[in-house]
Amino acid sequence: MGLKVAVLANLKRNAPHYAGMPADAWADLDSDITVNAIIAALEAGGHRATFLEGNLSLVETLPCLKPDICFNICEGHWGDSREAHVPAILEMLRIPYTGSGVLTLALTLDKPMTKRVLHFHGLPTPAFQVFERADEPLDPDLLFPLFVKPSREGTGIGVSGTSIVKDESELRDRLVEQLARYHQPILVERFVRGREVTVGCIGNLVAPVAWRLPEDEEAPRVTRGLRFLPPLEVDFHAYPESEGGVYTNRMKTEWADAFHYLCPAPLDPDLVEELNWLTAAAFRVTGSADVARVDFRFDADDGDKPYILEINPLPGLYPGLSDLVLEAAAIGIPYDDLINAIFDTACARRGLRPAG
Ligand SMILES: Nc1ncnc2c1ncn2[C@@H]1O[C@H](COP(=O)(O)OP(=O)(O)OP(=O)(O)O)[C@@H](O)[C@H]1O
Ligand SMILES: [Mg+2]
Repeated sequence: MGLKVAVLANLKRNAPHYAGMPADAWADLDSDITVNAIIAALEAGGHRATFLEGNLSLVETLPCLKPDICFNICEGHWGDSREAHVPAILEMLRIPYTGSGVLTLALTLDKPMTKRVLHFHGLPTPAFQVFERADEPLDPDLLFPLFVKPSREGTGIGVSGTSIVKDESELRDRLVEQLARYHQPILVERFVRGREVTVGCIGNLVAPVAWRLPEDEEAPRVTRGLRFLPPLEVDFHAYPESEGGVYTNRMKTEWADAFHYLCPAPLDPDLVEELNWLTAAAFRVTGSADVARVDFRFDADDGDKPYILEINPLPGLYPGLSDLVLEAAAIGIPYDDLINAIFDTACARRGLRPAG
């Protein structure tokens, strides 16, 4: 018989309301469709699965249910490390769970912190500055156009065509707007003009890669233990100019049903290998586990050099729509198999026997 699984998520319909909530608040939370699809997939894999809302009620609901393991996709509600809250509760209750742990989820929710770690390891990520006030002086090395986005959001929250700023006055306007709206430090990056690709992976590295930098010709590019999904390219040609050639919140929410993409992205095999290695390196240096998706932009002004925008250790799993799901489908991996691949890799890491 399979395992008893608690599927933990934060549903949009259960999300708290508060005064002055921005229209895109909770855009990153999940739907019943996703949770039900994960439950159905795990049941198809021979397990018994039950949904529990990922909030403080877990302290009571989990000891009653006594799951063998939790399938965690909680985005959290409050604070600068909200994605780490449920894993912290699970560790206190000593219940195993799928995916990355407390430190990784806290780190990767914070884009500037993640970029500092990537930069330390010599991994390419756009130059940046963090603003806590709108009038802080701009680093003279940062040249326009720049890109302005909240430090700790996902699903393109705060990302629109107007995130690209071409001069000081646009920058200041956007900073005032985003600081007031999102109540968190705002990340300003060099705008990387060019193609956009995202790479998903499942598994766990069996050897460290952190110090093996791409420039080091001698070092083998160790990616063993990770299974890469084909790169997915966002097809910006299919979208209005108002979106500015970026993957905006509107494209990820309002227009998600008609997502325009190319998968596998038409890329040279050497470049795919490079992206896979960069994905493995980002996975490794952020301490990710079981699954992740790394977002890249290619710099059209520098020979299409790939830059890492961020790593998502809780990638969206909306059936038929989320990037990771589309990447799996492109190589014939159905949704149920994708979910069970993530689940089985977590069970193996945790020393739990998958369904027999
Ligand atoms: N420095 C940059 N240069 C060019 N485009 C950028 C830059 N930073 C972000 N973007 C655009 O904004 C989009 C969203 O940015 P990012 O991936 O950092 O945010 P997100 O909301 O966390 O995304 P996700 O939905 O993957 O969680 C990117 O996919 C890209 O199109
Ligand atoms: Mg992203």
